[in-house]
Amino acid sequence: MILFCKVAVILGIESSCDETSASICADGVILSNVIANQTIHEAYGGVVPELASRVHQQNIVPAVQQSLLNAKVSKNDVDAVAFTRGPGLLGSLLVGVSFAKAFALARNLPLIDINHMQAHVLAHFIDDPKPAFPFLCLTVSGGHTQIVLVKDYFDMEVIGQTTDDAAGEALDKTSKILGLPYPGGPLIDKYARLGNADAYRFPEPQIPGLDFSFSGLKTAILYFIRNNVKLNPDFVQDNLADICASVEKRVVTILLNKLKKAAQQYHIKDIALAGGVSANTGLRQGLKQMGDDMGWNTFIPKFEYCTDNAAMIAIAGHYKYLKGEFARQDIAPLARMPF
Ligand code: KG4
Ligand code: ZN
Repeated sequence: MILFCKVAVILGIESSCDETSASICADGVILSNVIANQTIHEAYGGVVPELASRVHQQNIVPAVQQSLLNAKVSKNDVDAVAFTRGPGLLGSLLVGVSFAKAFALARNLPLIDINHMQAHVLAHFIDDPKPAFPFLCLTVSGGHTQIVLVKDYFDMEVIGQTTDDAAGEALDKTSKILGLPYPGGPLIDKYARLGNADAYRFPEPQIPGLDFSFSGLKTAILYFIRNNVKLNPDFVQDNLADICASVEKRVVTILLNKLKKAAQQYHIKDIALAGGVSANTGLRQGLKQMGDDMGWNTFIPKFEYCTDNAAMIAIAGHYKYLKGEFARQDIAPLARMPF
């Protein structure tokens, strides 16, 4: 009983890909969210799993120390440790899971395992206003594109997903074709703001139901660039902003058209956006516009809670702590992890 009488302080740990992050949550309020980015991957045009794992090992202790400092909380005040169990890169997950286990074992604290994709959705419970159950969440990241029917904090159903590439992957691969550095998504966003989104028309895939496909679009962009560069070697430099704006517009319309279909099918008006790609200006504006037209209540987390972060792990940990659901010390990370 004592467990539920005092303010519960949760340490959250995220290390599923290339961000090492630690966060402190006290009674559902995020006090700190430290994110250490890994720049080493830029030289390789994508995340190198082995390097990511090594950099997590260097970053994890300083990130946790900084998160405690920023929150003005001592490690003695921590009541439970929440960590990303999966999905993600196994070597990266291992670092966060091992740290969480060691911290919990040394201080005799309960462990809370969190599904990274559920945590992206639960990022909506950090700040007000919060969506009401049931709501739909479009989760778009470098690894996932999903429409999730959220019935309760840990009762979620994927009702639509990509059959091949994720939306963020499509943007990152397009930026690679354009010769932009990794990660390209934010750069496409930056150049798109300066271009004409109707300059070029890329195809919209005809996928039945609520699923997505982005690999055809990626191939269409590749051939479009190749053909034009043959005619004008400076085609990309001369038209970069228009290309980025047109690509972004197509990706955004693919995402929003399916979201609209899902909202109509399930008769839901609380619509949320999550994952790294929800940082995209065109997608945020597009969702707001569609929300106004359709009479939806739309929810988009603060930028720092959109991309990978431990605050979403800590808030998810808070709700699992309230349910009294804890993990065993022999728990292992999972590269693939269903909801
Ligand atoms: O959720 P996240 O941080 O990591 C994964 O779990 O994948 O998402 C990363 C993805 C990358 O594909 C990145 O290019 C994309 O989010 N991204 C953006 C923007 N910021 C991040 N894509 C478009 N516009 C942005 N502003
Ligand atoms: Zn993510």
